[in-house]
Amino acid sequence: MPPAAAVVGRSIMKAFQHLATQDLHTRRVEEAYRVVVECVTAVDPAMRLYMFGSTAVYGVHEKGSDVDFVALSETDVEDGKGEDAATQVAKGLQAEFLGKLARVVRQKHFSWNVEEVRRTRVPVIRVKGGSGVDFDITVNRRNGVRNSALLRAYFEQDPPCRWLSMGVKRWSKRVGLNASVVGGSITSYGFNLMVVYYLLQRGALQFIPPTAIDVAKVAPVPPYLPLEPPQNDGVELGERVLDFLQFYMNEFDAARHVISLSRPGITTKEQLNWTKDAEDRARMNGEKINYQWCIEDPYELNLNVGRNVTPLKRDFLRKHMDKARETALLTST
Ligand code: GTP
Ligand code: MG
Ligand code: MG
Repeated sequence: MPPAAAVVGRSIMKAFQHLATQDLHTRRVEEAYRVVVECVTAVDPAMRLYMFGSTAVYGVHEKGSDVDFVALSETDVEDGKGEDAATQVAKGLQAEFLGKLARVVRQKHFSWNVEEVRRTRVPVIRVKGGSGVDFDITVNRRNGVRNSALLRAYFEQDPPCRWLSMGVKRWSKRVGLNASVVGGSITSYGFNLMVVYYLLQRGALQFIPPTAIDVAKVAPVPPYLPLEPPQNDGVELGERVLDFLQFYMNEFDAARHVISLSRPGITTKEQLNWTKDAEDRARMNGEKINYQWCIEDPYELNLNVGRNVTPLKRDFLRKHMDKARETALLTST
């Protein structure tokens, strides 16, 4: 018998107790923003800098989370609903800009660790800053800004839902399912898509067409969205968490359906041609694409955010979800 919702909710609240005494205001990362702007400007003064990822999605900055930045040209911003180029040429140009940027960052902040990552789907530089704030910088790609703004628009419909998302993210990192941990397979972004899809299926949120999100209307530094403690001593939060696990364990049909925010209702693998046959053929950067646990990216064409979930990892996911019911997302042990 899983513990009662009230017990689960209280346990999760306790795990996030430290946030009550922390300054969660997004102004805490404005300093990092200024530093990166300075470096970007030194490479190209016409580029604009946008912050996305969890700071934008939640409207708060949790200590320990990295900050995601993207440098955009004026045209990128003006054409704020445009598709990102995915060609090798575009990738090459992005890598070139990031190479210059990496040099500037190293010059200005010689004690920081700056790593150029070229082998990923999207070229990125990873900076481990001295002040405890780590950040990723990409260039000329609007999709991160758009997908973060989309997730935020959903959480703004019901701000307490951020607790479910934060609880799931914390758990995914601790049990090793999160791609930021060695052996993990789904990014925090992927888990957020799962959380919002579940809430949509339950009718707890109203569908937002991804095409409605326009970078030209998004603030470069995300506005602060205060995080109130869960209501009712966490009872509703506990219910939500148990119901989320119930949904993915027993209701979501992983063999036939796709977790998707691209359209309301159900999306099937068949519809996207994410079939066994496609799985046998598909490769990305030489790596196999799995269609075992399908999460459709709302902006990237034909991209499964769950592509690294192998049959074995899908079994892990199920086992950990099953355990999470007893352990209140690993907060009670
Ligand atoms: P933490 O950094 O773990 O606190 O969470 P986060 O909300 O910042 O998420 P994450 O760092 O995973 O993702 C930040 C951004 O990177 C997202 O908004 C996406 O644009 C991009 N991203 C991360 N993972 C993926 C992925 O698997 N596929 C795609 N297309 N984009 C991703
Ligand atoms: Mg991040
Ligand atoms: Mg990141």
